[in-house]
Amino acid sequence: MKTTAKAALRLIQELETLKPLSIANGIVLDNGCGTGATAMAVRYQSADIPILATDISPGMLDILDKREIPGIRTRVADALDLSVLEEDGVDNHFSHVLSTFMIQFTPDATKAVAEMYRVLQPGGAFGLATWIEVEIVTKINEAGKALEPQWKAPNMFASNWPTTVSEVQVKMEELGFVDIHTNVTRADLDSPLELLLDYTYNGNHPSAVEQIRYWEEQGRLKDFKAVYERSLGNLYAKGHRLSLRYMLTTARKP
Ligand SMILES: C[S@@+](CC[C@H](N)C(=O)[O-])C[C@H]1O[C@@H](n2cnc3c(N)ncnc32)[C@H](O)[C@@H]1O
Repeated sequence: MKTTAKAALRLIQELETLKPLSIANGIVLDNGCGTGATAMAVRYQSADIPILATDISPGMLDILDKREIPGIRTRVADALDLSVLEEDGVDNHFSHVLSTFMIQFTPDATKAVAEMYRVLQPGGAFGLATWIEVEIVTKINEAGKALEPQWKAPNMFASNWPTTVSEVQVKMEELGFVDIHTNVTRADLDSPLELLLDYTYNGNHPSAVEQIRYWEEQGRLKDFKAVYERSLGNLYAKGHRLSLRYMLTTARKP
């Protein structure tokens, strides 16, 4: 199972301790659903609860639609303004709102969470997954810095969301949430080194794409690859594995 799918399942299990998915008249919003990892995890936990899955990208929703998950509707929506759901005649008072690995890609993560608070029913449960560190990106950036100390690494995220438990606690309280629980998980990537290199060079990862284009323009892609591959090779020779660190946050609207 993919790391993000495992994270989604854990998030939903934690969310259920705040408000079970089996409640009468429940409805879930999966905001920034992508191709549906989290919606699938909701369906795995509950066969019945209706799910509205939204994303800014129609292409993502097309893939999700083809999966034909029972009880799911999809809708294009920008997480920064969910009023489009009201215009559509959708009851926007969700019993559960979930969002996994999305808010940091919006221009304003805090606004995205405030919007989710707004569409949540009083007493509703909220679950959020956010990145703390994607170590492959750290290693790409370190290789860039080793080649050119003034190199300013591109930020893979459009906006910031706090990465410590205490900061998230404060932020969530400011937004009005109660019963806030936060935990950090580290997951080692078990892919072989060759696959990680292939992913870096050909995987269309936003941070990698920008760097590779830059070194290509400088005529130094070969140098970049040499530094990067040496650094990862040394780590893997010592048995180290690259990891992902993410935060799961659950909370309730009073
Ligand atoms: C890394 S994917 C995560 C998808 C899914 N939630 C998961 O955990 O697998 C990020 C998703 O956020 C969506 N996204 C980015 N900006 C958004 C915005 N402003 N509003 C809604 N969705 C957005 C992208 O289209 C993409 O599907």
